[in-house]
Amino acid sequence: MKNAILDKKLAIDREKCIHCGRCQEICWNGMLKLGADGIPHMEPTDLSDEWHMCWECQRCLAGCPTGALSICGKKPEDSLSRDLLPSPLQIEALLTNRRSCRSFKQENVDPELIRHILYVCGNSPTGSCNQVYECTVIDDKEVMREFTSRLRDEMYQQAAKGIYPPRFTKEDLAVFKTCYDKGEEFCFRGAPHMLAVHAPTTRGEWVFDTTIALTYAELAMTCNGLGVIYLTTPWAALQVCPKSRAFLQIPEDHYISCLVGFGKPEFQFPRGVQRSDSLKIHRILGENRQELL
Ligand SMILES: Cc1cc2nc3c(=O)[nH]c(=O)nc-3n(C[C@H](O)[C@H](O)[C@H](O)COP(=O)(O)O)c2cc1C
Ligand code: SF4
Ligand code: SF4
Repeated sequence: MKNAILDKKLAIDREKCIHCGRCQEICWNGMLKLGADGIPHMEPTDLSDEWHMCWECQRCLAGCPTGALSICGKKPEDSLSRDLLPSPLQIEALLTNRRSCRSFKQENVDPELIRHILYVCGNSPTGSCNQVYECTVIDDKEVMREFTSRLRDEMYQQAAKGIYPPRFTKEDLAVFKTCYDKGEEFCFRGAPHMLAVHAPTTRGEWVFDTTIALTYAELAMTCNGLGVIYLTTPWAALQVCPKSRAFLQIPEDHYISCLVGFGKPEFQFPRGVQRSDSLKIHRILGENRQELL
């Protein structure tokens, strides 16, 4: 079956096109070919060949030097320019200054900011470029309070039956209880909001895709001044608390990555950490290569 419909996704501004062929070179799936007039068109594809069809990656839009190419209804002028990229030092500052927040203001974050952050997160790369992951957010602190107390109660009920979250023991549960009894919300560290990124375990790279997306979300939250924390404790609890999982309305066949708690932080950390000394680096050297590092 030939796919002519895909052609409609491609629009070239003939005034701007300089016939350089970059788009043809960039398209890893061989979809774009320059015609005799030097203008690219989309090659008809065999729909049974998944590897050679348009994956809607928008790399051609991103790579056209003159901004002549629109695809999938997206125009180049609506993309953020490379000129806006932060310096390497600014990125290093972001990466070393992101911190786990465990002191949150009990206030709701503006839903528009959350929506924007998730929009940014939605640009994360995915295997097969299929962007099939979904985000479940609790953006209301009262709903979060209800969810956290449901999860705590269900965890206790399960523990009474001898069912514990993976990797957690009876002793761990006793520690959780002591914290809860003191008024410390142990699972989410008192975060007024949470985000779960999840994906169906049927197609794509659900573990990697969701994890990378969550990392994008964390960094986007951090540079927007929010406090964030990755959380595996409530993730583990959800594995043995089906009612709480149902509260989140996440389909049963979805893999859930580690959760994040987020909100307005009580305070910011004024500097980053310096802990990469412990990183072990292994270099695979050829016979005649010299050690450089
Ligand atoms: C995969 C992962 C899971 C985590 N789970 C929890 C958790 O359940 N509870 C918690 O308080 N912190 C959790 N953390 C936060 C770590 O404890 C935290 O990264 C560590 O304290 C270092 O602090 P920093 O993130 O500010 O550098 C988790 C971090 C990662 C990366
Ligand atoms: S990359 Fe842009 S300018 Fe170059 S041929 Fe393709 S559409 Fe034309
Ligand atoms: S969106 Fe990606 S796959 Fe489709 S034509 Fe452009 S570069 Fe090729």
